[in-house]
Amino acid sequence: MSSTERPAPARNMDEIVSLCKRRGFLFQGSEIYGGLNGFWDYGPLGVELKRNVKEAWWRDMVLCHNDMDVLPGAPEAYSMTGLDCSIIMHPQVWKCSGHYDLFHDYMVDCRESKKRYRHDQVSGRWVEYRGEKLFVTAMAGDDELAGIERQAMKYFGVRAKNVDQLLYDGGARSLTTVDEFSKVLGPDAKTPGTLTEPREYNLMFKTTVGALGGEDDVAFLRPETAQGIFVNFKNVMDSTRFRLPLGIAQMGKSFRNEITPRNFTFRSREFEQMEIEFFCHPSASAAWYQYWRDRRMDWYTRLGLSPERLRLREHEQAELAHYSIGTADIEYAFPFLAPGEYGELEGIAHRGDFDLRSHMEGKLDEKVRPLALQLGPDGKPKWKGSGKDLSYRDDLTNEKYTPHVIEPSAGADRATLAFLCEAYCEDQAPDDDGKLQTRTVLRLHPRLAPIKAAVLPLVKKDGMPEIAREIYLELKGHFNVFYDDKAAVGRRYRRQDEAGTPFCITVDGQTLQDQTVTIRDRDSLRQWRVHRQECASAIRDLLQQ
Ligand code: GAP
Repeated sequence: MSSTERPAPARNMDEIVSLCKRRGFLFQGSEIYGGLNGFWDYGPLGVELKRNVKEAWWRDMVLCHNDMDVLPGAPEAYSMTGLDCSIIMHPQVWKCSGHYDLFHDYMVDCRESKKRYRHDQVSGRWVEYRGEKLFVTAMAGDDELAGIERQAMKYFGVRAKNVDQLLYDGGARSLTTVDEFSKVLGPDAKTPGTLTEPREYNLMFKTTVGALGGEDDVAFLRPETAQGIFVNFKNVMDSTRFRLPLGIAQMGKSFRNEITPRNFTFRSREFEQMEIEFFCHPSASAAWYQYWRDRRMDWYTRLGLSPERLRLREHEQAELAHYSIGTADIEYAFPFLAPGEYGELEGIAHRGDFDLRSHMEGKLDEKVRPLALQLGPDGKPKWKGSGKDLSYRDDLTNEKYTPHVIEPSAGADRATLAFLCEAYCEDQAPDDDGKLQTRTVLRLHPRLAPIKAAVLPLVKKDGMPEIAREIYLELKGHFNVFYDDKAAVGRRYRRQDEAGTPFCITVDGQTLQDQTVTIRDRDSLRQWRVHRQECASAIRDLLQQ
Protein backbone atom coordinates (compact mmCIF):
# COMPACT_ATOMS: atom_id res chain seq x y z
CA MET A 1 0.00 0.00 0.00
CA SER A 2 1.38 3.42 -0.87
CA SER A 3 1.74 5.96 1.90
CA THR A 4 -0.90 8.25 0.38
CA GLU A 5 -3.66 5.65 0.74
CA ARG A 6 -4.92 5.71 4.25
CA PRO A 7 -4.61 2.26 5.82
CA ALA A 8 -7.14 1.08 8.39
CA PRO A 9 -5.87 1.87 11.88
CA ALA A 10 -4.03 -0.90 13.65
CA ARG A 11 -6.40 -3.06 15.66
CA ASN A 12 -3.63 -3.93 18.05
CA MET A 13 -4.04 -1.91 21.21
CA ASP A 14 -0.77 -3.21 22.67
CA GLU A 15 1.19 -1.44 19.93
CA ILE A 16 -0.63 1.82 20.57
CA VAL A 17 -0.05 1.57 24.32
CA SER A 18 3.61 0.79 23.73
CA LEU A 19 4.03 3.78 21.38
CA CYS A 20 2.32 6.03 23.94
CA LYS A 21 4.80 5.05 26.60
CA ARG A 22 7.88 4.96 24.34
CA ARG A 23 7.24 8.40 22.85
CA GLY A 24 5.94 10.10 26.00
CA PHE A 25 2.22 10.39 25.31
CA LEU A 26 0.95 8.55 28.38
CA PHE A 27 2.37 6.96 31.49
CA GLN A 28 0.76 4.93 34.24
CA GLY A 29 0.15 7.29 37.20
CA SER A 30 2.72 6.94 40.04
CA GLU A 31 4.52 4.34 37.93
CA ILE A 32 7.74 4.16 39.96
CA TYR A 33 5.65 3.01 42.94
CA GLY A 34 3.94 0.30 40.92
CA GLY A 35 1.19 2.55 39.54
CA LEU A 36 -2.26 3.39 40.86
CA ASN A 37 -5.08 1.69 38.99
CA GLY A 38 -7.30 4.11 37.05
CA PHE A 39 -4.91 7.09 37.09
CA TRP A 40 -2.83 8.21 34.11
CA ASP A 41 -0.20 10.88 33.48
CA TYR A 42 0.19 12.62 30.12
CA GLY A 43 3.81 12.96 29.02
CA PRO A 44 5.47 15.74 26.98
CA LEU A 45 3.71 14.81 23.71
CA GLY A 46 0.48 13.68 25.39
CA VAL A 47 -0.03 16.93 27.24
CA GLU A 48 0.14 18.87 23.96
CA LEU A 49 -2.20 16.45 22.19
CA LYS A 50 -4.81 16.61 24.93
CA ARG A 51 -4.49 20.40 25.20
CA ASN A 52 -5.08 20.60 21.43
CA VAL A 53 -8.19 18.40 21.72
CA LYS A 54 -9.58 20.64 24.46
CA GLU A 55 -8.52 23.79 22.64
CA ALA A 56 -10.23 22.60 19.43
CA TRP A 57 -13.42 21.89 21.39
CA TRP A 58 -13.38 25.27 23.16
CA ARG A 59 -12.60 27.22 19.99
CA ASP A 60 -15.14 25.38 17.83
CA MET A 61 -17.95 25.35 20.39
CA VAL A 62 -17.40 28.61 22.32
CA LEU A 63 -14.75 31.12 21.20
CA CYS A 64 -15.31 31.04 17.44
CA HIS A 65 -19.04 30.32 17.60
CA ASN A 66 -20.99 32.45 15.12
CA ASP A 67 -23.88 33.85 17.17
CA MET A 68 -25.12 36.16 14.39
CA ASP A 69 -26.32 33.60 11.85
CA VAL A 70 -28.52 30.54 11.97
CA LEU A 71 -26.08 27.65 11.64
CA PRO A 72 -26.96 24.71 9.36
CA GLY A 73 -29.48 22.47 11.12
CA ALA A 74 -30.03 24.88 14.04
CA PRO A 75 -33.58 26.09 14.76
CA GLU A 76 -32.30 29.69 15.28
CA ALA A 77 -29.17 31.70 16.11
CA TYR A 78 -27.79 31.07 19.61
CA SER A 79 -25.06 32.23 21.97
CA MET A 80 -22.29 30.31 23.69
CA THR A 81 -20.23 31.19 26.75
CA GLY A 82 -18.11 29.40 29.35
CA LEU A 83 -17.45 28.79 33.04
CA ASP A 84 -14.70 27.33 35.17
CA CYS A 85 -16.21 26.12 38.46
CA SER A 86 -14.64 24.58 41.53
CA ILE A 87 -14.21 20.82 41.81
CA ILE A 88 -15.58 20.64 45.35
CA MET A 89 -19.10 21.98 45.63
CA HIS A 90 -21.69 22.25 48.38
CA PRO A 91 -22.79 18.66 49.27
CA GLN A 92 -26.42 19.69 48.68
CA VAL A 93 -25.58 20.01 44.97
CA TRP A 94 -25.07 16.23 44.74
CA LYS A 95 -28.18 15.48 46.80
CA CYS A 96 -30.39 17.56 44.49
CA SER A 97 -28.65 16.34 41.32
CA GLY A 98 -29.37 12.71 42.22
CA HIS A 99 -25.71 11.67 42.47
CA TYR A 100 -25.86 11.14 46.22
CA ASP A 101 -28.70 8.60 45.98
CA LEU A 102 -28.35 7.25 42.48
CA PHE A 103 -24.79 7.49 41.23
CA HIS A 104 -23.72 3.94 41.90
CA ASP A 105 -22.73 0.73 40.27
CA TYR A 106 -23.45 -2.75 41.56
CA MET A 107 -20.42 -4.72 42.55
CA VAL A 108 -19.69 -8.22 43.76
CA ASP A 109 -16.80 -9.17 46.05
CA CYS A 110 -14.97 -12.46 45.97
CA ARG A 111 -14.51 -13.74 49.54
CA GLU A 112 -11.68 -16.01 48.38
CA SER A 113 -9.54 -13.85 46.05
CA LYS A 114 -10.56 -10.58 47.79
CA LYS A 115 -11.12 -9.07 44.34
CA ARG A 116 -14.03 -6.77 43.52
CA TYR A 117 -15.86 -6.81 40.19
CA ARG A 118 -18.55 -4.73 38.58
CA HIS A 119 -21.62 -6.97 38.50
CA ASP A 120 -22.39 -6.23 34.85
CA GLN A 121 -18.78 -6.76 33.76
CA VAL A 122 -18.57 -10.40 34.80
CA SER A 123 -19.56 -12.83 32.09
CA GLY A 124 -19.97 -16.59 32.26
CA ARG A 125 -21.37 -19.81 30.83
CA TRP A 126 -23.17 -22.74 32.39
CA VAL A 127 -20.73 -25.64 32.16
CA GLU A 128 -21.34 -29.28 33.12
CA TYR A 129 -18.68 -31.91 33.74
CA ARG A 130 -19.32 -35.37 35.21
CA GLY A 131 -22.70 -34.35 36.66
CA GLU A 132 -21.58 -31.06 38.26
CA LYS A 133 -23.02 -27.92 36.68
CA LEU A 134 -21.66 -24.44 37.45
CA PHE A 135 -21.80 -20.91 36.07
CA VAL A 136 -18.10 -20.41 35.29
CA THR A 137 -17.08 -16.76 34.88
CA ALA A 138 -14.41 -14.44 33.49
CA MET A 139 -14.23 -10.70 32.98
CA ALA A 140 -16.37 -9.65 30.03
CA GLY A 141 -14.40 -8.46 27.00
CA ASP A 142 -12.28 -9.59 24.12
CA ASP A 143 -11.03 -12.82 25.61
CA GLU A 144 -14.03 -13.87 27.68
CA LEU A 145 -14.83 -17.21 26.00
CA ALA A 146 -11.22 -18.35 26.26
CA GLY A 147 -11.10 -17.06 29.86
CA ILE A 148 -14.24 -19.01 30.81
CA GLU A 149 -12.84 -22.18 29.25
CA ARG A 150 -9.50 -21.80 31.06
CA GLN A 151 -11.31 -21.30 34.36
CA ALA A 152 -13.56 -24.34 33.75
CA MET A 153 -10.59 -26.55 32.81
CA LYS A 154 -8.74 -25.49 35.93
CA TYR A 155 -11.70 -26.11 38.24
CA PHE A 156 -12.76 -29.46 36.78
CA GLY A 157 -9.15 -30.58 36.23
CA VAL A 158 -9.71 -31.16 32.50
CA ARG A 159 -6.70 -31.31 30.18
CA ALA A 160 -6.57 -29.55 26.83
CA LYS A 161 -6.97 -32.82 24.90
CA ASN A 162 -10.25 -33.53 26.77
CA VAL A 163 -11.69 -30.05 26.54
CA ASP A 164 -14.65 -31.29 24.48
CA GLN A 165 -15.85 -33.19 27.56
CA LEU A 166 -16.94 -29.85 29.04
CA LEU A 167 -20.65 -29.52 28.21
CA TYR A 168 -21.82 -25.94 27.73
CA ASP A 169 -25.43 -24.97 28.22
CA GLY A 170 -25.82 -21.84 26.06
CA GLY A 171 -23.38 -19.05 25.19
CA ALA A 172 -21.74 -16.41 27.34
CA ARG A 173 -24.10 -14.24 29.35
CA SER A 174 -23.77 -11.58 32.00
CA LEU A 175 -23.62 -12.48 35.70
CA THR A 176 -26.62 -10.14 36.06
CA THR A 177 -28.77 -12.93 34.55
CA VAL A 178 -27.89 -15.39 37.35
CA ASP A 179 -29.58 -15.66 40.77
CA GLU A 180 -27.98 -18.82 42.23
CA PHE A 181 -24.71 -17.38 43.54
CA SER A 182 -23.80 -20.71 45.21
CA LYS A 183 -23.37 -22.14 41.69
CA VAL A 184 -21.12 -19.35 40.44
CA LEU A 185 -17.36 -19.86 40.09
CA GLY A 186 -15.82 -16.37 40.32
CA PRO A 187 -13.28 -15.16 37.70
CA ASP A 188 -10.32 -15.69 40.05
CA ALA A 189 -11.77 -18.23 42.51
CA LYS A 190 -10.86 -21.87 43.05
CA THR A 191 -14.19 -22.81 44.68
CA PRO A 192 -17.78 -21.98 43.71
CA GLY A 193 -20.05 -19.73 45.78
CA THR A 194 -17.42 -17.20 46.86
CA LEU A 195 -19.01 -14.16 45.19
CA THR A 196 -21.19 -11.95 47.38
CA GLU A 197 -24.63 -10.78 46.29
CA PRO A 198 -24.37 -7.51 44.29
CA ARG A 199 -24.07 -4.41 46.46
CA GLU A 200 -24.48 -0.74 45.65
CA TYR A 201 -21.30 1.26 45.57
CA ASN A 202 -21.34 5.05 45.23
CA LEU A 203 -18.86 6.25 42.67
CA MET A 204 -18.19 9.66 44.21
CA PHE A 205 -14.84 10.21 45.94
CA LYS A 206 -15.35 11.51 49.45
CA THR A 207 -13.19 14.11 51.11
CA THR A 208 -13.43 16.40 54.15
CA VAL A 209 -13.41 20.16 54.16
CA GLY A 210 -11.68 21.95 57.04
CA ALA A 211 -9.61 20.79 59.97
CA LEU A 212 -12.27 19.14 62.14
CA GLY A 213 -13.16 16.38 59.71
CA GLY A 214 -16.53 15.40 61.20
CA GLU A 215 -19.50 13.89 59.31
CA ASP A 216 -20.82 17.41 58.67
CA ASP A 217 -17.60 18.29 56.82
CA VAL A 218 -17.90 15.52 54.23
CA ALA A 219 -17.72 16.75 50.64
CA PHE A 220 -17.27 15.08 47.26
CA LEU A 221 -14.96 15.51 44.30
CA ARG A 222 -17.28 16.33 41.40
CA PRO A 223 -18.20 13.30 39.27
CA GLU A 224 -19.22 15.61 36.38
CA THR A 225 -18.67 19.24 35.46
CA ALA A 226 -22.33 19.73 34.51
CA GLN A 227 -23.64 20.63 37.98
CA GLY A 228 -21.34 23.66 38.23
CA ILE A 229 -23.12 25.04 35.19
CA PHE A 230 -26.64 24.45 36.55
CA VAL A 231 -25.91 26.07 39.90
CA ASN A 232 -24.40 29.10 38.13
CA PHE A 233 -27.16 29.52 35.56
CA LYS A 234 -28.68 32.42 37.50
CA ASN A 235 -25.27 34.05 38.02
CA VAL A 236 -24.55 33.93 34.30
CA MET A 237 -27.97 35.33 33.36
CA ASP A 238 -27.78 38.10 36.02
CA SER A 239 -24.23 39.17 35.16
CA THR A 240 -24.47 39.17 31.35
CA ARG A 241 -26.91 40.27 28.67
CA PHE A 242 -27.29 36.84 27.11
CA ARG A 243 -30.73 35.71 26.05
CA LEU A 244 -31.83 32.12 25.46
CA PRO A 245 -31.04 29.95 23.59
CA LEU A 246 -27.67 29.89 25.29
CA GLY A 247 -25.06 27.19 25.72
CA ILE A 248 -22.73 27.31 28.72
CA ALA A 249 -19.59 25.23 28.37
CA GLN A 250 -17.13 23.96 30.91
CA MET A 251 -14.19 21.65 30.75
CA GLY A 252 -12.25 20.24 33.64
CA LYS A 253 -11.45 17.33 35.88
CA SER A 254 -14.06 14.89 37.12
CA PHE A 255 -13.57 11.99 39.47
CA ARG A 256 -15.33 8.64 39.70
CA ASN A 257 -14.24 5.80 41.89
CA GLU A 258 -14.81 3.28 39.10
CA ILE A 259 -14.91 -0.32 40.31
CA THR A 260 -13.03 -1.69 37.35
CA PRO A 261 -11.03 1.03 35.59
CA ARG A 262 -9.76 -0.46 32.35
CA ASN A 263 -8.93 -0.21 28.68
CA PHE A 264 -6.09 2.30 29.07
CA THR A 265 -7.54 5.76 29.74
CA PHE A 266 -11.03 4.79 28.53
CA ARG A 267 -12.37 4.19 32.04
CA SER A 268 -10.25 6.12 34.52
CA ARG A 269 -10.92 7.32 38.03
CA GLU A 270 -9.69 10.85 37.29
CA PHE A 271 -10.51 12.26 33.86
CA GLU A 272 -11.52 15.43 32.08
CA GLN A 273 -14.90 16.27 30.66
CA MET A 274 -15.94 18.84 28.07
CA GLU A 275 -19.61 19.58 28.72
CA ILE A 276 -22.17 21.99 27.33
CA GLU A 277 -25.48 22.72 29.02
CA PHE A 278 -27.65 24.24 26.36
CA PHE A 279 -30.65 26.17 27.75
CA CYS A 280 -33.65 26.66 25.49
CA HIS A 281 -37.42 27.08 25.33
CA PRO A 282 -39.20 23.75 26.09
CA SER A 283 -41.11 23.91 22.79
CA ALA A 284 -37.83 23.96 20.81
CA SER A 285 -35.89 21.43 22.87
CA ALA A 286 -36.60 18.42 20.63
CA ALA A 287 -35.24 20.29 17.59
CA TRP A 288 -32.18 21.43 19.55
CA TYR A 289 -31.56 17.82 20.65
CA GLN A 290 -31.39 16.77 16.98
CA TYR A 291 -29.14 19.71 16.18
CA TRP A 292 -26.59 18.91 18.90
CA ARG A 293 -26.45 15.21 18.03
CA ASP A 294 -25.49 16.06 14.44
CA ARG A 295 -23.22 18.95 15.34
CA ARG A 296 -21.17 16.86 17.74
CA MET A 297 -20.86 13.91 15.32
CA ASP A 298 -19.60 16.37 12.72
CA TRP A 299 -16.95 17.69 15.13
CA TYR A 300 -15.33 14.28 15.52
CA THR A 301 -15.31 13.53 11.81
CA ARG A 302 -13.85 16.93 10.94
CA LEU A 303 -10.97 16.21 13.29
CA GLY A 304 -10.22 12.91 11.63
CA LEU A 305 -12.32 10.11 13.13
CA SER A 306 -13.52 7.92 10.30
CA PRO A 307 -17.33 7.72 9.93
CA GLU A 308 -16.80 3.98 9.43
CA ARG A 309 -15.68 3.66 13.03
CA LEU A 310 -18.14 6.14 14.54
CA ARG A 311 -21.81 5.67 15.23
CA LEU A 312 -24.65 7.56 16.86
CA ARG A 313 -26.72 5.27 19.02
CA GLU A 314 -30.08 6.33 20.41
CA HIS A 315 -30.71 4.89 23.89
CA GLU A 316 -33.55 2.45 24.54
CA GLN A 317 -36.17 3.70 27.01
CA ALA A 318 -34.85 1.36 29.75
CA GLU A 319 -31.30 2.67 29.35
CA LEU A 320 -32.16 6.33 29.83
CA ALA A 321 -30.65 8.13 32.83
CA HIS A 322 -33.09 9.20 35.52
CA TYR A 323 -33.36 12.73 34.18
CA SER A 324 -33.33 12.04 30.48
CA ILE A 325 -36.16 12.40 27.98
CA GLY A 326 -33.85 11.18 25.23
CA THR A 327 -30.15 10.35 24.97
CA ALA A 328 -27.88 9.41 22.12
CA ASP A 329 -24.29 8.27 22.42
CA ILE A 330 -21.53 8.99 19.96
CA GLU A 331 -19.54 5.78 19.96
CA TYR A 332 -16.21 4.74 18.49
CA ALA A 333 -14.95 1.29 17.52
CA PHE A 334 -11.90 1.31 19.81
CA PRO A 335 -9.32 -1.35 18.95
CA PHE A 336 -9.54 -2.91 22.42
CA LEU A 337 -13.16 -3.89 21.74
CA ALA A 338 -14.29 -6.99 19.89
CA PRO A 339 -15.21 -6.41 16.21
CA GLY A 340 -18.68 -4.87 15.99
CA GLU A 341 -18.48 -3.36 19.49
CA TYR A 342 -18.30 0.37 20.21
CA GLY A 343 -17.32 2.46 23.24
CA GLU A 344 -18.95 5.74 24.30
CA LEU A 345 -17.14 8.96 23.40
CA GLU A 346 -19.87 11.41 24.23
CA GLY A 347 -23.49 11.40 25.37
CA ILE A 348 -26.02 13.93 24.11
CA ALA A 349 -28.92 14.05 26.56
CA HIS A 350 -32.22 15.84 26.52
CA ARG A 351 -32.51 16.54 30.26
CA GLY A 352 -35.74 18.50 30.19
CA ASP A 353 -36.04 20.81 33.20
CA PHE A 354 -34.95 18.18 35.74
CA ASP A 355 -31.75 19.89 36.85
CA LEU A 356 -32.86 23.49 37.17
CA ARG A 357 -36.07 22.45 38.93
CA SER A 358 -34.20 20.10 41.29
CA HIS A 359 -31.80 22.89 42.30
CA MET A 360 -34.73 25.25 42.68
CA GLU A 361 -37.45 23.15 44.36
CA GLY A 362 -35.56 20.13 45.74
CA LYS A 363 -34.62 16.75 44.32
CA LEU A 364 -37.30 15.52 41.94
CA ASP A 365 -38.47 11.94 41.84
CA GLU A 366 -37.12 10.52 38.60
CA LYS A 367 -39.66 7.67 38.65
CA VAL A 368 -42.72 9.91 38.59
CA ARG A 369 -44.16 11.50 35.43
CA PRO A 370 -44.76 14.38 35.34
CA LEU A 371 -41.71 15.01 37.53
CA ALA A 372 -42.61 15.87 41.13
CA LEU A 373 -40.71 16.50 44.35
CA GLN A 374 -39.25 13.37 45.92
CA LEU A 375 -40.59 13.08 49.45
CA GLY A 376 -38.96 11.47 52.48
CA PRO A 377 -40.74 9.10 54.94
CA ASP A 378 -41.96 12.20 56.87
CA GLY A 379 -43.75 13.49 53.77
CA LYS A 380 -41.31 16.42 53.44
CA PRO A 381 -38.95 16.98 50.48
CA LYS A 382 -36.17 14.38 50.68
CA TRP A 383 -33.47 16.87 49.67
CA LYS A 384 -34.25 20.57 49.82
CA GLY A 385 -33.40 22.74 46.82
CA SER A 386 -31.77 26.18 46.96
CA GLY A 387 -35.12 27.99 46.88
CA LYS A 388 -33.62 30.37 44.30
CA ASP A 389 -35.64 31.21 41.21
CA LEU A 390 -33.82 29.56 38.29
CA SER A 391 -36.52 30.27 35.72
CA TYR A 392 -36.03 32.65 32.80
CA ARG A 393 -38.10 35.61 31.66
CA ASP A 394 -37.94 36.40 27.95
CA ASP A 395 -37.69 40.20 27.82
CA LEU A 396 -39.23 40.31 24.32
CA THR A 397 -42.31 38.15 24.93
CA ASN A 398 -42.39 38.56 28.75
CA GLU A 399 -42.91 34.79 28.98
CA LYS A 400 -41.45 33.19 32.13
CA TYR A 401 -40.43 29.53 31.99
CA THR A 402 -37.96 26.98 33.31
CA PRO A 403 -35.63 26.29 30.40
CA HIS A 404 -35.10 22.82 29.03
CA VAL A 405 -31.55 21.59 28.74
CA ILE A 406 -29.71 19.67 26.02
CA GLU A 407 -26.38 18.35 27.24
CA PRO A 408 -23.58 17.28 24.88
CA SER A 409 -21.16 15.73 27.38
CA ALA A 410 -17.80 14.56 26.08
CA GLY A 411 -14.69 13.09 27.68
CA ALA A 412 -11.40 14.80 26.81
CA ASP A 413 -9.40 11.66 27.59
CA ARG A 414 -11.69 9.37 25.59
CA ALA A 415 -11.60 11.75 22.62
CA THR A 416 -7.79 11.93 22.87
CA LEU A 417 -7.60 8.14 22.99
CA ALA A 418 -9.91 7.80 19.97
CA PHE A 419 -7.83 10.30 17.97
CA LEU A 420 -4.67 8.37 18.89
CA CYS A 421 -6.19 5.00 17.92
CA GLU A 422 -7.50 6.40 14.64
CA ALA A 423 -4.16 8.05 13.82
CA TYR A 424 -1.94 5.06 14.50
CA CYS A 425 -0.93 3.16 11.42
CA GLU A 426 1.93 1.38 9.75
CA ASP A 427 2.81 1.95 6.11
CA GLN A 428 5.81 1.87 3.81
CA ALA A 429 8.24 4.74 3.32
CA PRO A 430 11.71 4.92 1.76
CA ASP A 431 14.69 5.05 4.13
CA ASP A 432 17.91 7.10 3.64
CA ASP A 433 19.00 4.66 0.89
CA GLY A 434 15.65 4.82 -0.91
CA LYS A 435 14.65 1.31 0.24
CA LEU A 436 11.01 0.88 1.32
CA GLN A 437 10.71 0.21 5.04
CA THR A 438 7.73 -0.19 7.35
CA ARG A 439 7.15 3.00 9.28
CA THR A 440 4.91 3.74 12.24
CA VAL A 441 3.06 6.98 11.77
CA LEU A 442 0.47 8.92 13.73
CA ARG A 443 -1.73 10.57 11.12
CA LEU A 444 -3.15 13.08 13.56
CA HIS A 445 -5.13 16.02 12.23
CA PRO A 446 -2.64 18.94 12.07
CA ARG A 447 -4.79 20.90 14.55
CA LEU A 448 -4.33 18.11 17.08
CA ALA A 449 -0.70 17.22 16.39
CA PRO A 450 1.49 17.98 19.45
CA ILE A 451 4.34 19.34 17.28
CA LYS A 452 3.33 21.26 14.17
CA ALA A 453 6.68 21.23 12.40
CA ALA A 454 10.21 19.94 12.97
CA VAL A 455 13.19 21.92 11.69
CA LEU A 456 16.07 19.72 10.57
CA PRO A 457 19.48 20.66 9.15
CA LEU A 458 20.37 17.92 6.63
CA VAL A 459 23.87 17.66 8.09
CA LYS A 460 25.51 19.22 11.11
CA LYS A 461 27.99 21.38 9.15
CA ASP A 462 28.37 23.97 6.36
CA GLY A 463 26.28 26.52 8.25
CA MET A 464 23.07 24.43 7.95
CA PRO A 465 22.47 24.15 11.73
CA GLU A 466 22.80 27.95 12.05
CA ILE A 467 20.14 28.59 9.38
CA ALA A 468 17.89 25.86 10.84
CA ARG A 469 18.24 27.42 14.28
CA GLU A 470 17.15 30.82 12.94
CA ILE A 471 14.11 29.30 11.22
CA TYR A 472 13.27 27.33 14.37
CA LEU A 473 13.39 30.42 16.59
CA GLU A 474 11.27 32.39 14.15
CA LEU A 475 8.59 29.67 14.01
CA LYS A 476 8.72 29.09 17.77
CA GLY A 477 6.94 32.41 18.28
CA HIS A 478 3.91 31.06 16.39
CA PHE A 479 3.71 27.26 16.74
CA ASN A 480 4.98 24.37 18.78
CA VAL A 481 8.02 23.39 16.71
CA PHE A 482 10.94 21.07 17.34
CA TYR A 483 14.61 21.32 16.39
CA ASP A 484 16.57 18.14 15.74
CA ASP A 485 20.07 17.73 14.34
CA LYS A 486 20.90 14.28 15.74
CA ALA A 487 21.20 11.13 13.55
CA ALA A 488 20.57 10.61 9.82
CA VAL A 489 17.75 12.69 8.41
CA GLY A 490 15.69 9.58 7.57
CA ARG A 491 15.71 8.53 11.23
CA ARG A 492 14.72 12.02 12.27
CA TYR A 493 11.76 11.91 9.86
CA ARG A 494 10.69 8.56 11.39
CA ARG A 495 10.78 10.00 14.88
CA GLN A 496 8.58 12.87 13.78
CA ASP A 497 6.20 10.50 11.96
CA GLU A 498 5.76 8.54 15.18
CA ALA A 499 5.07 11.74 17.09
CA GLY A 500 2.43 12.76 14.54
CA THR A 501 4.31 15.89 13.36
CA PRO A 502 2.61 16.84 10.07
CA PHE A 503 5.49 18.82 8.52
CA CYS A 504 9.28 18.68 8.51
CA ILE A 505 11.34 21.62 7.28
CA THR A 506 14.79 20.64 6.06
CA VAL A 507 17.75 22.93 5.47
CA ASP A 508 20.03 21.39 2.82
CA GLY A 509 22.77 22.22 0.34
CA GLN A 510 20.43 24.16 -1.91
CA THR A 511 19.42 26.40 1.01
CA LEU A 512 22.97 27.71 1.07
CA GLN A 513 22.64 28.77 -2.57
CA ASP A 514 19.07 30.06 -2.93
CA GLN A 515 17.72 30.37 0.64
CA THR A 516 14.95 27.80 0.00
CA VAL A 517 14.13 24.88 2.31
CA THR A 518 12.08 21.73 1.76
CA ILE A 519 8.76 21.10 3.46
CA ARG A 520 7.88 17.39 3.79
CA ASP A 521 4.29 16.27 4.29
CA ARG A 522 4.00 13.41 6.82
CA ASP A 523 1.12 11.62 5.07
CA SER A 524 1.84 11.95 1.36
CA LEU A 525 5.65 12.19 1.81
CA ARG A 526 5.54 14.94 -0.81
CA GLN A 527 8.39 17.46 -0.57
CA TRP A 528 8.46 20.95 -2.03
CA ARG A 529 10.60 24.06 -1.62
CA VAL A 530 9.73 27.44 -0.17
CA HIS A 531 11.86 30.46 0.62
CA ARG A 532 13.11 30.25 4.21
CA GLN A 533 11.34 33.51 5.00
CA GLU A 534 8.01 32.04 3.92
CA CYS A 535 8.16 29.07 6.33
CA ALA A 536 5.84 30.61 8.95
CA SER A 537 3.17 31.62 6.45
CA ALA A 538 3.44 28.26 4.62
CA ILE A 539 2.99 26.30 7.86
CA ARG A 540 0.13 28.57 8.91
CA ASP A 541 -1.65 27.96 5.57
CA LEU A 542 -1.08 24.23 5.80
CA LEU A 543 -2.47 24.08 9.34
CA GLN A 544 -5.60 25.91 8.25
CA GLN A 545 -6.39 23.52 5.40
N1 GAP B 1 -23.11 15.12 32.75
C1 GAP B 1 -23.39 13.89 32.11
C2 GAP B 1 -22.31 12.91 32.22
O1 GAP B 1 -21.36 13.09 32.98
P1 GAP B 1 -21.53 10.57 31.38
O2 GAP B 1 -22.01 9.77 30.21
O3 GAP B 1 -21.49 9.91 32.70
O4 GAP B 1 -22.46 11.86 31.40
C3 GAP B 1 -19.88 11.94 29.90
O5 GAP B 1 -20.09 11.15 31.04
C4 GAP B 1 -18.58 11.57 29.23
O6 GAP B 1 -17.50 11.62 30.17
C5 GAP B 1 -18.54 10.14 28.68
O7 GAP B 1 -19.14 10.06 27.41
C6 GAP B 1 -17.05 9.87 28.62
O8 GAP B 1 -16.49 10.43 27.46
C7 GAP B 1 -16.53 10.63 29.83
N2 GAP B 1 -16.34 9.70 30.96
C8 GAP B 1 -17.28 9.28 31.83
N3 GAP B 1 -16.75 8.43 32.73
C9 GAP B 1 -15.44 8.31 32.40
C10 GAP B 1 -14.34 7.57 32.95
N4 GAP B 1 -14.48 6.82 34.03
N5 GAP B 1 -13.13 7.69 32.36
C11 GAP B 1 -12.96 8.47 31.28
N6 GAP B 1 -13.96 9.20 30.72
C12 GAP B 1 -15.18 9.11 31.27
